[in-house]
Amino acid sequence: MASVTGLEGIIAAETELSLVDGEKGYLVYRGYEAKKLALNKSFEEVAYLLWHGELPTEEILVNFRAQWSAHRSLSETLKAAINLLPLECDMMSVLRTAISFLGTESVKESAWPPQYESVLAYTALLPTIIAYKYRQSLGLQPIEPNPELDHVANYLYMLTGTVPQPVHVKVLTAYFVLAMEHGMNASTFAGRVVLSTQSDIASALCASIGAMKGPLHGGAPSEVLHMLAEIGTKDRAEAWLIEQLESGNRLMGFGHRIYKTSDPRAEALRQIMTELASEDPWFELAIYVEMLAVDLLAVYKPGRKLYVNVEFYAAAVMRAIALPKSLFTPSFTASRMVGWTAHLLEQASCNRIFRPQSVYIGEMPAALQQP
Ligand code: CMC
Repeated sequence: MASVTGLEGIIAAETELSLVDGEKGYLVYRGYEAKKLALNKSFEEVAYLLWHGELPTEEILVNFRAQWSAHRSLSETLKAAINLLPLECDMMSVLRTAISFLGTESVKESAWPPQYESVLAYTALLPTIIAYKYRQSLGLQPIEPNPELDHVANYLYMLTGTVPQPVHVKVLTAYFVLAMEHGMNASTFAGRVVLSTQSDIASALCASIGAMKGPLHGGAPSEVLHMLAEIGTKDRAEAWLIEQLESGNRLMGFGHRIYKTSDPRAEALRQIMTELASEDPWFELAIYVEMLAVDLLAVYKPGRKLYVNVEFYAAAVMRAIALPKSLFTPSFTASRMVGWTAHLLEQASCNRIFRPQSVYIGEMPAALQQP
């Protein structure tokens, strides 16, 4: 059995995009605390910061929003491609396929270096793809993007057909900003590896979406909801958690490779939810389960420093604004598109192909064995 796994502690790149301090528990985007950005800035403003290195002025923001909005509509060919997919196809597979299809549409463009225009186009379009397929799966007519609404509000609008409540936009914006970027996580790394071969953006994003889909990464929030549904009431929580830990199961929404203290993104979402939805019985249950789980993890996994991570409260946020479970990971993806694409542009600006090594631990032919 190999003992070197998971590239833990290995530095794969230098980045100007974000700092994840797992010991002190903070997250910085290009010199700004992500927590503060989440409460005070729009999704577009923080996207601009990650892509361009500074927050936009009012004037730049107006133009930027207009450019963004111009990329929101689905082409007829993309709709036709999505229509070919089975109705019950899971949304992450739809997104991977749609991005792959878009990569074939832009085949005439030079694949290298990646173009900022494509980065903006793919990011602006992703929520429209989700909403289109979601409504189709329910037998509903698609809703065209509303140019009056910002990225997050328009996403909710295209899903439901009604202009969302400001409180829902505020809470989802906070989650989207906090989930936008997170250093060299599995999906970002996967995308950078593909791009480092001088491949195209669509191929890199397909790799990122594939990595995001897994339950140990972006698939966790829906598992958290499943856990809270199974627990149901506070009085059942302790016995349920103990049973899981004694069976060797992982508690979804806990633990992190980098954070050895509470994930600051979870802290921020808990705070926002406390302000906006403290009466929500699911949120109350979530707070109680977090408290118990952290104590039990310290007993069952001593020394591992397992605390709550962003996915735990992401589930509470998305449930509070009535997003269905099937859209949890796709929504995370719609937000992380910014971080992925910022990394792809950064990778292209100082590219060297990724080529790590492995240690061979198999058999050797007799003729090659040392005397
Ligand atoms: N519940 C119970 N035990 C756990 C958990 C958990 N959630 N997470 C880690 N452990 C244990 C694990 O069993 C192992 O114990 P032992 O040493 O006795 O075998 C020890 O802690 C170390 O685990 P690891 O797998 O080496 O840790 P990792 O750094 O490779 O994994 C992780 C990080 C996030 C995949 C893991 O903590 C996990 O599976 N958590 C649950 C899934 C989850 O919430 N994922 C969302 C992560 S946040 C979003 C993102 O950034 O991707």
